[in-house]
Amino acid sequence: MMSGPTPHYHLQEARPDPEPESSAIENARRATLNILEDFAAEKCELESGQRATLNILEDFDAEKKRMAGAERAVLNILEDFASEKSQLEEFQHSFLNILEDFSQEKNRLEGTQRAVLNILEDFEGEKANVELVNERLENEIRDRKHIEVEMQRTNMELSAANKELEAFSYSVSHDLRTPLRSIDGFSQALLEDCADKLDATAMDYLHRVRSAAQRMATLIDDMLNLSRVTRCELRRESLDLSAIAKSIASELQEAEPERRVEFAIEDGLTAVADPQLIRVAMENLIRNSWKYTSGHPTARIEFGRSDANVKDCFFVGDDGAGFDPRYAARLFGAFQRLHTAKEFPGTGVGLATVHRIIHRHGGEIWAIGAVEKGATFYFTLR
Ligand SMILES: Nc1ncnc2c1ncn2[C@@H]1O[C@H](COP(=O)(O)OP(=O)(O)OP(=O)(O)O)[C@@H](O)[C@H]1O
Ligand SMILES: [Mg+2]
Repeated sequence: MMSGPTPHYHLQEARPDPEPESSAIENARRATLNILEDFAAEKCELESGQRATLNILEDFDAEKKRMAGAERAVLNILEDFASEKSQLEEFQHSFLNILEDFSQEKNRLEGTQRAVLNILEDFEGEKANVELVNERLENEIRDRKHIEVEMQRTNMELSAANKELEAFSYSVSHDLRTPLRSIDGFSQALLEDCADKLDATAMDYLHRVRSAAQRMATLIDDMLNLSRVTRCELRRESLDLSAIAKSIASELQEAEPERRVEFAIEDGLTAVADPQLIRVAMENLIRNSWKYTSGHPTARIEFGRSDANVKDCFFVGDDGAGFDPRYAARLFGAFQRLHTAKEFPGTGVGLATVHRIIHRHGGEIWAIGAVEKGATFYFTLR
């Protein structure tokens, strides 16, 4: 609040004046005018004071508003600053986390580096080993190549010798047939034409000579068949194996209709193979089943495709005499028999023939069986 200057009123002191009344009035009037003038001046002063005050108040108000604005701005700045601070703190946290992760990562990397160095060290050792093994392998390969060449040469010699042997055994077998036929024929002639001159013992001897000659003839025929299997050329064509099996079965049944044998032949089994050779093989297998079940009142013979994981694997099985499985591998050798001629007749060439036929087709043959529990022969063809 402004305080104005103290007003001065110039009042004429009333004193006894010998002047007339009019001058007294005049004085009074002047005094009053002075007063009014002073008053007006005072008022002016007051008004200007008031204006100044108002201006000051206005300025103050504007200042106040500015101050409030500034305060708000400061508050905003403070607020911004606080959020900035918390952001900074967050950033600091995450930065610390990153640093922690980074140090863990660094440790891990150091570990990995150590492991890699170890591996590299091992690798060096391993490399030396590999080089050593390589050297040995190279030597081995060289040796093997040498052996291979040797083997090829031996094989060629062997197959030439084999061919010679086959030809020799073929011609010997062939040539043996004629004198054998003579022995049998003349024995028969003696028995028929000279019966009255021979006693019982001589007759018995002649019978024995005949049966031995006949057995030898069978053996020779079997050997000739066996050698034919290797000598003949392979002709491949599409074959109905089921039909072949059925025709063999009906031949057997016709020959011995009194036998009670059930045949179970799977339909639709086919293969691409040599028709003559496959017929020989299947005939041997099915005839064997027929023969080795003959000791039982009833029998079942099966031909089918095996479920085993082998492609195109066929089998012939029966529930007959079977065999001792310890000797299963022997069955396929020529003249190998697991039964005596008294139990079951035969020369022991059948399975050797089958073995050669299957091998010529690039297949395999094997057997499983047990005494009196039957036998099954599996074979593949390619
Ligand atoms: N289905 C079978 N059940 C039991 N044993 C069998 C069977 N097939 C073959 N064998 C055994 O294997 C042996 C060899 O058979 P393989 O067919 O070669 O000769 P084989 O039948 O005796 O005479 P053959 O030369 O007349 O066929 C037989 O003597 C027999 O002991
Ligand atoms: Mg046989």
